[in-house]
Amino acid sequence: MADRTSRGDVPHARAAVRRSAIIAAVGGLLFGYDTGIIAGALLFIEDDISIGAFESGLIVAAVPLGAIFGAAGAGRLGDRFGRRRMIVASAIAFAVGSLVCAFSDSVALLVIGRLLLGLAVGVASTTCPVYISEVAPTNVRGRLVTLFQLAVTAGILVAYLVSLALTASEDWRLMLGLGAIPAVGLGLGMWFGPQSPRWLVMRGRVDDARRTLSKMREGGEQEADAEIEEIQESLGQEKSTVRDLVSPAVRAALFVGVGLAILQQVTGINTVIYYAPTIVQFAGVESDSAKILATVGIGVVNVGATVFAIWLVGRMGRRPLLLLGVSGMVIALVGLGAAFQIGGDDENAKAVVAVVSLMAYVSAFAISLGPIFWLLNAEIYPLRVRAQAAGIATMANWTFNFIVSLTFLLLIDAFGQTATFWLYAGIGVLTLFFVWRFVPETRGVPLEEMEAIWRKRGERRGGGGRSGGGEASAGVS
Ligand code: BGC
Repeated sequence: MADRTSRGDVPHARAAVRRSAIIAAVGGLLFGYDTGIIAGALLFIEDDISIGAFESGLIVAAVPLGAIFGAAGAGRLGDRFGRRRMIVASAIAFAVGSLVCAFSDSVALLVIGRLLLGLAVGVASTTCPVYISEVAPTNVRGRLVTLFQLAVTAGILVAYLVSLALTASEDWRLMLGLGAIPAVGLGLGMWFGPQSPRWLVMRGRVDDARRTLSKMREGGEQEADAEIEEIQESLGQEKSTVRDLVSPAVRAALFVGVGLAILQQVTGINTVIYYAPTIVQFAGVESDSAKILATVGIGVVNVGATVFAIWLVGRMGRRPLLLLGVSGMVIALVGLGAAFQIGGDDENAKAVVAVVSLMAYVSAFAISLGPIFWLLNAEIYPLRVRAQAAGIATMANWTFNFIVSLTFLLLIDAFGQTATFWLYAGIGVLTLFFVWRFVPETRGVPLEEMEAIWRKRGERRGGGGRSGGGEASAGVS
């Protein structure tokens, strides 16, 4: 610990870290906005440029599809050009994509604009959480990275509200074009913001890293020096190669990252985020305004529960929150499936049970798999491969996002509502097992020590020990 004379400018350091995290989180706001806005916009696009179901599907699917490719490229490029430049590039793609969509008069242009937005979403969802985790001091890392998820949920809610406000004017161009405004903010904010100090060390720019870090650490230069030493140690002597990605420690971390990426999607969250009005309608709600109200309500609950998650993640750690939240998701999904079993004339009861279950499900997701997947994905990999490994898991996340959104209505057609939601509940039970068995506690663990967790675990397993849990230390997030 630094002595008093070497302490930095404490309020300034805290503000600098907070500012960098908030700016990078705007990438999450755009992720939420661009995935959330299309449901509202599509209704009017369909009227305006007369398109069929296939074209509509293309326009919707272009974002997750583009995101798969964006995430695939973001890792290596993020190591080469730096996290900050990648986020600036994503901001440009967000702005251009929004404008192309707003001014397009053909399906082809709309799909191109949405693919660009998708690329931006893929890059931002890989790089922004990693950047935040790399500028944050260990004791607030959990809370700051969770800001990213808060921004995603705020983006979804803003999209619902904008759709609602522009429904009367049917102005789908404005709905899509508005995304350009936060994109400009993200681009400018990051352009003038600091580089990731960990990336600077990785590139051998130790003096730049020291200068950046001492402005962001309460202990000033002395704390920065100690941190840089740890970063250098964790990097080792060798340059990263593709072989690093298959070393046992990285493989174990990737197993957890990719596993959680897939489970975050296959437990069904986006059936609710993308199809809430349809689900409410299945439960017997006919009025459009009630459907929209229920959807906005879900958006509000999603944001509110994520704010709560920021508070919780600083106190409870990752594993207990995951176990608690996923258990809640399973119970809510069982309730949702059961709502469709309420027979006869009691439409009211069916709708109430369905809406309450939906809200409970979204809240439980928002305190667990929602923020904690992105948090763990930004922190569990060794620095040499962090961006690349995070990119691989993010790619898996978008691939399964795409598959679940595409298959949801088909599953309902084939098996009915109850069986479909109970299927997601079953996958939730598997998720609980996965978390209990494989996910380590990383609260309070410095980024530089993550690799040691995986190594220790390998040794323990060699000696017959159980994995999961146990690495936490107190008072930190
Ligand atoms: C997920 C998105 C989802 C959002 C909902 C994110 O963590 O990755 O797929 O739409 O949460 O809040």
